[in-house]
Amino acid sequence: MSVHPSSTPVPQTLPPPMNLPRLRELAERGEKIAVLTCYDATFARILDEQGVDVLLVGDSLGNVIQGESSTLPVTLEHMAYHTACVARGRRRAWLVADLPFGSYEASPAQALAASVALMRTGAQMVKLEGGGVTAETVHYLTQRGIPVCAHLGLTPQRVHALGGFRVQGRDAQAAEALRADAVALTQAGAAMLVLELVPSHLARTVGEACPGLITIGIGAGAGTSGQVLVLHDMLGLTPGKRPRFVRDFSRGIDGQPPLDVATAVRTYVQAVKAGSFPDEALHGY
Ligand code: KIV
Repeated sequence: MSVHPSSTPVPQTLPPPMNLPRLRELAERGEKIAVLTCYDATFARILDEQGVDVLLVGDSLGNVIQGESSTLPVTLEHMAYHTACVARGRRRAWLVADLPFGSYEASPAQALAASVALMRTGAQMVKLEGGGVTAETVHYLTQRGIPVCAHLGLTPQRVHALGGFRVQGRDAQAAEALRADAVALTQAGAAMLVLELVPSHLARTVGEACPGLITIGIGAGAGTSGQVLVLHDMLGLTPGKRPRFVRDFSRGIDGQPPLDVATAVRTYVQAVKAGSFPDEALHGY
């Protein structure tokens, strides 16, 4: 006698929840990690079901949710609200939340209070922007059990200091400074590093200089452990000229109709895993 009558769906074996050791294992064996930003429960469920490994509640929500022209107006309360929404929708994906501008720069103790607020709403790791100057804070947080993702290259919270959204680490001196920052942050305990808008050869050498560090690129070529894009950019929802590093995954190929959200996200995950995104000739610097 059949245990499962044909009308009863056979339960699928669900993949186990993602955690830091599993992410490290993927990075070590060269399986690319697919990351997308996410800001609410509905998208969290869709992204999770389509195999996205890491959901980043980015302060890019200032741009794509709030309609601001930068991430600077985003507050800790905004981040906590959206992190809680995403946490309710996810099941498997690892959840990273951004510490927003002004919530962590004053002292390690300020960063701890902000991180606790985000972890209480469901974040499993916090991300903060900046170089070696943040190493003390990274050490303070990781010693207290808070996993940290650092962020180097184009750091949008410093857009005014950097003079706009431009490629970072182009000349030898700037590249060396960025590599030294990455080493300092790794030694301080950062487990993951977002590299934004840097030349692909620099991103590769950062990975080589920091064994064990999970590197996630955005506009940083194909040599990182994984890739991240802003959800609204990869779904073709962001108006205006697309940055070169973005691919619109909602586009049907060869005149086919546009893809639904789940299919576009699945296509992104498959392209990252297969190494066909980013194509350095089209999306690299
Ligand atoms: O805020 C954000 O979405 C980010 C990604 C662009 C990496 O930091």
